[in-house]
Amino acid sequence: MPRASSPLNIVRPVFPKAEQFLAAFETALETGQVANNSRWVVEFEKRLSEYLGVPSLVFCNGQIGMMTMLRAAGITGGEVIVPSFTFLATPHAVRWVGAEPVFADILDDQTMRLDPSDVERRITDRTVAILAVDAYGVASDYAALKRIAERHTLKFLVDSAPSFGTRVDGQLVGGFADAQMFSFHATKPFATMEGGCVCSHDPELLARVKALRNFGQVDGADCQEPGLNGKMLEISALIGIEQLKTFEPAIATRRRSVERMRSGLSQIPGLAVAREPEGVEANWMLLPVVVDAAQFGMDRDALASALEKHDVFVRKYYSPPCHHMTAYRAQKDVTLEVTERTAYNVVALPLYNDMTDEECDFIVAAIQHVHLSALIAPAQGRSSGGGDRSSTSPLAPSRRSMP
Ligand SMILES: Cc1ncc(COP(=O)(O)O)c(C=O)c1O
Repeated sequence: MPRASSPLNIVRPVFPKAEQFLAAFETALETGQVANNSRWVVEFEKRLSEYLGVPSLVFCNGQIGMMTMLRAAGITGGEVIVPSFTFLATPHAVRWVGAEPVFADILDDQTMRLDPSDVERRITDRTVAILAVDAYGVASDYAALKRIAERHTLKFLVDSAPSFGTRVDGQLVGGFADAQMFSFHATKPFATMEGGCVCSHDPELLARVKALRNFGQVDGADCQEPGLNGKMLEISALIGIEQLKTFEPAIATRRRSVERMRSGLSQIPGLAVAREPEGVEANWMLLPVVVDAAQFGMDRDALASALEKHDVFVRKYYSPPCHHMTAYRAQKDVTLEVTERTAYNVVALPLYNDMTDEECDFIVAAIQHVHLSALIAPAQGRSSGGGDRSSTSPLAPSRRSMP
């Protein structure tokens, strides 16, 4: 099995050529109109709101956007129900605004969405909001979670950091909750280097987001509450404007690549490729695959290490789950069965906006090769992993590598 012609890293951001926006950027520099929501930030915000079909405010990054969204929704204490199967940014944002994240389980290891029944079980008289996460770009079960939020008079918010471009029943996500936020970090399908936005159909909530983004002040007038500085840079806005022009074909490429890899991987035993729930068209930030070590021939840690030898770089995302992190030790005794099983067996495969069929086929062939090597020479298969911390046979059932 040859190596890839160039390394297949976990992400490969595609940015516009500098000449596409250089003249505009030079004008911004020459005129000094570079900060405080200048021309291109305002223009990007307008185009973004039109594209998403929901009023949106851009941010310097997704995390500041999420903290601002929580604050603007009135969250300053109490409990917020979140998945543990997410990036740490989610519970961190809850803590930063003064509330406590309460972790709920995901429904299954295929869609990796927050389990509405488990959310409802964890509601107490301290609960103030549900903060769902669109893991890997797969939209959460908005309808079910919204019904629960309404029944218990809670805010329903979404950390949709990875899901810009995902559709539910043909409609782009962004306006399905009291508020949603996106990340435009370089690792995301829609990237402005750093960046993000908050979207809402609630004009009062959005007005509060706008004030909080600018130290709590609007147009130099009175300040009603302490805010922060969440403003986007002109250079990010200029890149964002260009990215919007090529984004739909990029999503199509990602979705086509997923189907191509899915078809190849379905021939290999022990691999469960993530799938979309009915009505959801995901942008697929990455392609998660859950490894059954007994059937595949080695566990996901060994698979990840073995693939590096073929220059295919995967990510154990999101692992360990948040409730096993020291910062959230207080909830360590919480058992989230599906989250734990998924987090310790999942591997995320690369996906790019400009992915080629050959790259998809190479990734599948490398995984097939690793699988066959493990079957033919189990001991060699295990050691080829290098990173397999398990001392069990590679044919033994998958073990959790607890933190
Ligand atoms: C689920 C999730 N939430 C929030 C964030 C934070 O976004 P940003 O990196 O733009 O601050 C990320 C980013 O990586 C994420 O994956």
